[in-house]
Amino acid sequence: MGYTIAVAGKGGTGKTTLCGLMIRYLVKSGLSPVLAIDADANANLHEVLGMEKGISVGQLREKAIDEVKDLPIGVTKEQYIEQRIHETLVEGHGYDLMSMGRPEGPGCYCYANHLIRKYSEKISQSYRYVVMDNEAGLEHLSRRTTQDVDALVIATDETVRGLRTVQRILDIIEELGLSIRKKFLVVNRAIGELPEAFGHQIAGMKVQFLGTIPADELIVQFDLEGKPLVSLPESSVAVRRVSEIMLELVGNEKALSVAA
Ligand SMILES: Nc1ncnc2c1ncn2[C@@H]1O[C@H](COP(=O)(O)OP(=O)(O)OP(=O)(O)O)[C@@H](O)[C@H]1O
Ligand SMILES: [Mg+2]
Repeated sequence: MGYTIAVAGKGGTGKTTLCGLMIRYLVKSGLSPVLAIDADANANLHEVLGMEKGISVGQLREKAIDEVKDLPIGVTKEQYIEQRIHETLVEGHGYDLMSMGRPEGPGCYCYANHLIRKYSEKISQSYRYVVMDNEAGLEHLSRRTTQDVDALVIATDETVRGLRTVQRILDIIEELGLSIRKKFLVVNRAIGELPEAFGHQIAGMKVQFLGTIPADELIVQFDLEGKPLVSLPESSVAVRRVSEIMLELVGNEKALSVAA
């Protein structure tokens, strides 16, 4: 299984941006292949990566539930799903993107769905890193059969509501018993130094604080022009901060792989 980094946080705190810049870092550092998973039903990671949106796992599920009833003789359900699941991958340079689409309804225990989960998770084994963009509710993550995440990065802005969502995410993890090795916190779009009271609140949470990513003029400009954020230049402050953050997150792993 590739080293899995999942990103979560309140709406609009920069989760997708962070995922895009992490993927950029991994590919540029020669740590590919990377599997990018868009686990937000309102998918837009492909835009940050400058890619077309493929067919989502949810869309495949809807088709497959019908089609597995009527397979040609000699084709098993397993073979059919294993083959079709590859159609959800969109190829980029050094990474592939898989969009999860809408999660299945609560009563969906059908066999096709079970196989889709099994094979979409199996796919992640052939990648060195998996970077997963989540919704705050961790909807897709909680439905995975293997919920192993090596590093969960929670993004927040400099608001009390942002921090409340951080706490809510930590509570969901406890409640669902998700297996998450390390939990980190990043304050995004920071303006200047963090206020002391805010720092105190963070210090009281059960997460490792990775620091801040400043509000970046270049991101605003790229957004305005509709340019993919992966092509931000090295001079972007956000790009530089994400590189430092990634060194902390995967630095040891990288050193190990270079030594091997
Ligand atoms: N450090 C930054 N500086 C300036 N703008 C930023 C920064 N980080 C993110 N943004 C911008 O803020 C907006 C929201 O970011 P993004 O879409 O990554 O958030 P999100 O948490 O994924 O949102 P959602 O909850 O809707 O999925 C985007 O327009 C993005 O370009
Ligand atoms: Mg997003």
